[in-house]
Parts: sequence; structure tokens; C-alpha cells
Amino acid sequence: MLVFLLHFSSTMQLKWQTVFFCLCFYGMDVVFCQARYSIPEEMPEGSFVGNIAKDLGIEISRLISGKARVVTKGGRQYVELSRDKGALVVKERIDREELCKQTTPCSFSFDLIIENPIQLHRITVEVQDINDNSPKFPKSKIDLTISENTASGTRFPLDSAVDLDVGINGIQNYALMPTDNFKLDVNNRADGKKYVEMVLQRELDREERNELKLVLTAYDGGSPKKSSTAQIHISVLDVNDNTPACKQALYKAEVKENSPIGSVLTTVSAADADEGVNGEVSYSFAQASEDARHVFDINSETGQITLLNRLDYETEKSYQLDIKAMDKGTLADTCKVIIDVVDVNDNPPTIQLMSFSNTIAENSPVGTTVAVINVEDADSGQNGVVQCKINEHIPFKIESSLTDYYALVTDEILDRENIAEYNITILVSDQGSPALHSNKTLTVKISDVNDNAPVFGSDQFRTFITENNSPGVAVLTVKAGDADWGPNARLSYFLEDSDVTGNPVSSLVSINSDSGVIHAVRSFDYEQMKSLTFNVTARDGGSPPLSSEVMVTLIVQDQNDNAPQVLYPVQTGGSVVAEIVPRSADVGYLVTKVVAVDVDSGQNAWLSYKLQKATDRALFEVGPQNGEIRTVRQVTDKDAVKQKLTVVVEDNGQPSRSAVVNINVAVADSFPEVVSEFSDFTLSKEYNDNLTFYLVLALAAVSFLFITTVVVIISVKIYRWRQSRIFYQSSLPVIPYYPPGYADTGVTGTLPHMYNYDVCMKTNSRKSDCKYSTLGGQSVLVVDQSFSETLQRAMKEKEFLENAESPEMVGPFFYILSFCGGVEWYILYVALKKGRKKGRKKGRKKERKKERKKERKKERKKERKKL
Ligand SMILES: *[C@@H]1O[C@H](CO)[C@@H](O)[C@H](O)[C@H]1NC(C)=O
Repeated sequence: MLVFLLHFSSTMQLKWQTVFFCLCFYGMDVVFCQARYSIPEEMPEGSFVGNIAKDLGIEISRLISGKARVVTKGGRQYVELSRDKGALVVKERIDREELCKQTTPCSFSFDLIIENPIQLHRITVEVQDINDNSPKFPKSKIDLTISENTASGTRFPLDSAVDLDVGINGIQNYALMPTDNFKLDVNNRADGKKYVEMVLQRELDREERNELKLVLTAYDGGSPKKSSTAQIHISVLDVNDNTPACKQALYKAEVKENSPIGSVLTTVSAADADEGVNGEVSYSFAQASEDARHVFDINSETGQITLLNRLDYETEKSYQLDIKAMDKGTLADTCKVIIDVVDVNDNPPTIQLMSFSNTIAENSPVGTTVAVINVEDADSGQNGVVQCKINEHIPFKIESSLTDYYALVTDEILDRENIAEYNITILVSDQGSPALHSNKTLTVKISDVNDNAPVFGSDQFRTFITENNSPGVAVLTVKAGDADWGPNARLSYFLEDSDVTGNPVSSLVSINSDSGVIHAVRSFDYEQMKSLTFNVTARDGGSPPLSSEVMVTLIVQDQNDNAPQVLYPVQTGGSVVAEIVPRSADVGYLVTKVVAVDVDSGQNAWLSYKLQKATDRALFEVGPQNGEIRTVRQVTDKDAVKQKLTVVVEDNGQPSRSAVVNINVAVADSFPEVVSEFSDFTLSKEYNDNLTFYLVLALAAVSFLFITTVVVIISVKIYRWRQSRIFYQSSLPVIPYYPPGYADTGVTGTLPHMYNYDVCMKTNSRKSDCKYSTLGGQSVLVVDQSFSETLQRAMKEKEFLENAESPEMVGPFFYILSFCGGVEWYILYVALKKGRKKGRKKGRKKERKKERKKERKKERKKERKKL
């Protein structure tokens, strides 16, 4: 018998449905039933699986009595029987994945054996899957290395994840994050499993991202879903796909020209985005900047540019370098480096003389150029700005004419006599910091111009000279100075032409033109000239010369060289002058007065009178001061008529000079008495002889004078007449003659008679005092005529010569001359007649000779013609 028993039960308390399926066989003695249950996996222990007693229709008592038990063949016993309840419960946790792996459906079977009678029941339990496993990647981290130049579309297979669950609880899906470069491609394999690939969508750039991190997620289909992730780490491999690039296209550096060798100027740097060797950049000078190699050095690794040589701003102000930055491949970039050389004030300014006159005339106008200077500084900017100065307190200034050119000009009128030489220091300095200087000293000499007249040491000179000096004696030295120089200061001395008492000054004194020593030309006579004033000129040798004058006064000092001269009573050898004293004369009667003069002056002219001899000393006395002779006592009859006195006149000079005068005094009451008494006083023969001699001499002299005058006049006449009539020759001798007065004056400037005349003037007496003496109302008998005559003649001559217009002065002298002239005229006439006769004879002879010559010539011509 076959019983189908189908029983479905459900327990509300359980989640899981226990599905029961029962099939029983009855045969022989063995009852064989099959029951089937379905439970989810992972039920806790004791969990109810199925009410087997009920399902199989077995009494619980039977179970107990039959010692019902579960028999598992091999393997683990997951389910046990609870006999009391007649139920099957979970004995051990059931893990489907452990039990069946991926096999589905999954079940296990066991037998339930009941004894007495034996009954065997096969029970099968199906285990249902629950989503208790997450997907799992074999490796949680996936490392990939991909070259950056990998082409897009390239596929990269990834390890698939595994999920122990089956069915829907197995892996259902994958996801990749982020998806910038890659996308995920999920495919189903033939066995139904999925596999995943990454596909490169966008090319990688190591320089942009050298590694990528992606997350791959696998999802199952359970509820709730479970997932798992795997990290994908992609390293991007470098390719030399980047050119080095200079960080700056242009580098600028400044360097002072005096920077030491090795100074770091700048560092160029180029970046290469590539990595490693591909990114290693080396630096070098590009072809264009080969020259720079001598000056600069570049470190090929660091790009540091250093100074290799000295710089000079004045030679090169700026350098431009091209630097090649190259990586180890062939990719290169070029950077420019501009190095500006900064000027350093390393050049001092220079001074150059373009023109220079080292001598300048002292009268140069203000602004005269002395020198033109060129000032330069090789530096630039402020270092090359030059200032030019000269030392102060000199009459020069510096003027800027053109850029860098200066003119040194005079600023004041110069004066050589003050400062003859200037040292001018030209100082130039630039504006650098520190400033550099240089200087130059010029010596300018001031040349002399004759701008200073000679100057005498004194505004006038005075000196004394004692008369009777020897001619040629040096009297005085006048000296002048001249502030100028050389010929402008070479002085010569001259006498200014002038007249001193009618004589040219040159006849009195001379001056040595070089030394200024004044010499007396001749002996001076104080009595002629008391002083002498003239001007001396000092003249320098300039052109034009300058001169100045000084007044020189020469004072002639008196010497006692003149003896007193007795004017009255007149004394001559044969003179007889008698003073008459009446016998009635009282005591003190003034007999006469001795008048004497001394042409000297001062002490030398102080006269004193002394009675030297007297017939009767007791009768007369002489006033020692005035020379008055007076009676001392009453004249008596006993006194002789003829009295003779000798008076000495003495001057007060050292030594003193004296003169002696004899005075005859007649003591008488009447003139006849005197005459008889003085009969022995009559003119002696000697006197007569003398007088005659003097008269003849005078006559002869006057005649001679007259004749010579006339002869001169005639000679002149004859000379003119001969000039007009050249054929007549006079045999008369021509005698040059000048009146002695004139000649005398010209040579000596002194006439003895003139001198006497002057003396009279000096003594302040009237002219007549000298000529005809009427002294003190006394009657005077003048016996001596020669002296007065000489005196008169001299005066007349002088007056005649000086004042020829006053004919009354000529007087009898002229008559005598006229008389003498008559005789002379006759002689002259005779001489003239003889001369003319001779002249005529000579003229006739000449005419006859000429006539004879003519006749001879005519005759010869005739003869020639005849021939
Ligand atoms: C100028 O300088 C020279 C040389 O140093 C010197 O001999 C002279 O005395 C100076 N002159 C003046 C006026 O200072």
C-alpha cells in the first residue's frame, strides 16, 4: 500500500517555512516512509524543523518505546530528534555554503530509525540560501603601471570578485570610481560568471597626474545588497614628452663693474615636466652668445651664471646671453639673460689743457682767456658729472663754455707790481660716491707793462756846495725807483733845460744819466750865484716811456775868498786924495769915512776897521764898526798940515782877509794952503807915463774893436758881392770876429766889471755912489782918474751892449771910436782899392786867356778845313 500524505504546515512563529512532504511505503514488515523538509540556512540550534511524529503519524509513545533515533551516514548531524515532542530540531548551525558550495538546491538526508518493529524513515532537509556573504575581491588593492603614452581604448582586465552566495545573492554588478580616464566594461562569461575590464578612455599625462587611485566596487543582488571594494592604484610611467621650459623668458641681472671674479650674477632655471632622466636639464651658452664665454661662466647643472673676467662699464655696458636649457634627450629651450653692468666711480676725472698762455700782460682786460681746459670722466651718470673749480682768492675765474670745456679767464685787473705770478690749481671732482678728484696746477706769469712812473725818494732835493769847488766834483745823487720790471724800470736821468741867471743849466751841472750823480761842471762862486734850482727828469725805458721830475736845489756856501774892498777913499798907486780938516774943527769932527765892502757874506763880510798907522796917533781915531775917522782932540796950530793915516779893513772870515787904505788928511783952513802943502803930491812922471800908456792902450783897443767890426761888416758885404759876381775873386782875408763882451758872456758868464756893478747894486747905494762919490756932503778931490775911468768905461760898455737903444749912454766913448774909425776907414779904403785893382787885373787876364783860346780853336778849325 502506498499512502501519499501530503502535509503542509506552517508555523507562524517562524520566519522560515518548513515544508513537509511525506511518502510512505508499507510492505512486508517494514514501513518505509520518506519525508521532506525545507529550512533556511543559519537557523539557530533548537530551531524547529518539522513535527515528524505528526507528519509520519507515529505516536510519541511509540517513538519512545521504539527508541526512535536519527542516523546520519557520515558527515555531520545537523538535526536531532526531540522524542518527547516528536519534533525535529536544529542540532548544529547549518551553513549552506559549507554544505553545498555553489550547488543548488542544497539538501541533506538522514534516517529515523524506530525499533520494535523496526521502522525506517528517510528524511531529507533542503537548506535554502540566505544572503549572508558579501562579494569578495581576491586582492583588496590592485597595482597597475601604465605608460603615459598608452593609447586610448587599451583594456586592462581586472580580477573579478567572488560571492559565496548563489543566485540572486551572487554578484550582480560592478562599479568604478572615478571615471575620468577609465571606464568599466563588465562581460558575462560562458559559465555565466562576470568578468571586468578597465578601458582607457582619455590618455594619461604623468606630468598632470603621475598616479591614479580608483575604487572598484562589486554588488550582489541580495536584499539588502552587499558590496565590496578593491583599490586600484595606477602609476603613470614617464615618457620624455616635455621640453624643458625656462621659468622666465628673460632674466635680468645687474652687476657692478668692479665685482670680483666668481661673483654670482643670476641663476637661470628651466623646468622639465618629465621625470627622472627625462627631466634633467643642463645649461649652456647658445651659439649666439659664444663671446660671452670669456666673460661669464654658467654652471651646466645649476644654471648659475658667474663672472669669469673683469668687467668694464666704459667698454661694455650690457651683455645679452642666450642660455640653452636642454634635457638629456634632444629637447631644449632658450632663455635670455640681460646683464647690465652698473657703473662704479672707478675713473677719476681728467684735465686736459687745450690751450694755455703762461704769460699774461698785466693790463689785460677783465675776461682775458688764460687757458682752455677739457675735463672728462669716463664714468657715466653721476659718476661722470664733473665739477671744475679753481683755488680761491685769486683774480681768476673759471667759466663753462661748452660741455666739458672750461675757460680760465681773468676776473680782475692784474697788477704785476703787486703779484707777479699766480699758481692756479684746477680742481675737478665727479659726483660719484665717493667722489674722485684730480687737479692740475698752472703757473701764470704776469708780464710787465710800463704802468708805473719813476718815483723819486723825495719830492725835492737840497744840498750844499762850498764855493770854489773843483769842477767835476760830485754834488748829489738823485735816485728814483720804478715799480715796473726790466726795461720798464731801467731809469735814465736828464737835466731839464732851463736857464739859471742867464746860463743854461747844463753849463753849470751835469748828471750821469745812469747813476743820477750830479756833478758840478765848474767852480761856483757864491758871490755870483747863491743857489741853483733845476729839475731832473727820471725816465724809464718803457714804450712809451714814463717820466717824473724832481726839483733839485743846490745852495752855494760862501767861503771867505774875497778881501774887503775899499770903495772910499779910492786907492790907487798915484792917487792923492786929501781930506781937509779945518783947524777949527772940534773934538769928534768927522774927517772922512772909510767905505769898504766885502763881497762875501755873513761873517766873511763883517768888516772891522783899525787905525794901523798915523802921523799923529793921538789926533784921529777910526770907528771899528763904521770906519768913521774922527778927531780925538782939538786940532792945534802945531799939528802938521799933512797928516797920513793907514786904516786896516778886516773881515771876520776864517782866516780873515784884510785891505789897507791910506788916507791923506790936510789940516788947513784954506785951499791954497793945501795946494802948497801938497805940492809934492803933483803928478809924477811915472804917473804921466802910466796915464799915457793906459790912454794909448785904451785907444788902440777901441780902435781895434772898431776896425774889426767894420772889417767884419765889409767882409760880409764882400762875400755877398762875390757870391753875386762869381768871376771876381777878392784877395781880402775874412776874419771872423765877435765882440769880446759877447764871447766873454758865453764862455764864463762873468764879467769882472759887471760884477763890480752888481756889487754896487747890492750894497744898496745909488749908482752915482759908485761913479762920483759925494759922501756925507764932503767935498772930494778926485786925483785918481784911471780907476773911475775904468769903472765908467766898464759900465758904459755893459750898458751899451745891453741897452743899445739908449744913445746917451754911448757918449764921448763913441766919439773917440768915430775919430779912430776915420783913420781906419782910410786904411780900409786904401786896402779895398788895392784889392779891387788886383781883382780887375785878374778878371782882365782871364778874359784875355779865353779870347786867346777861342782864337786858337778857330785857327785850328780853319787849318783842318784847309787840310
Ligand atoms: C708756484 O709753485 C711753484 C712750484 O711749486 C713755486 O716754486 C712758486 O713759489 C709758487 N708761486 C706762488 C706765487 O705761489
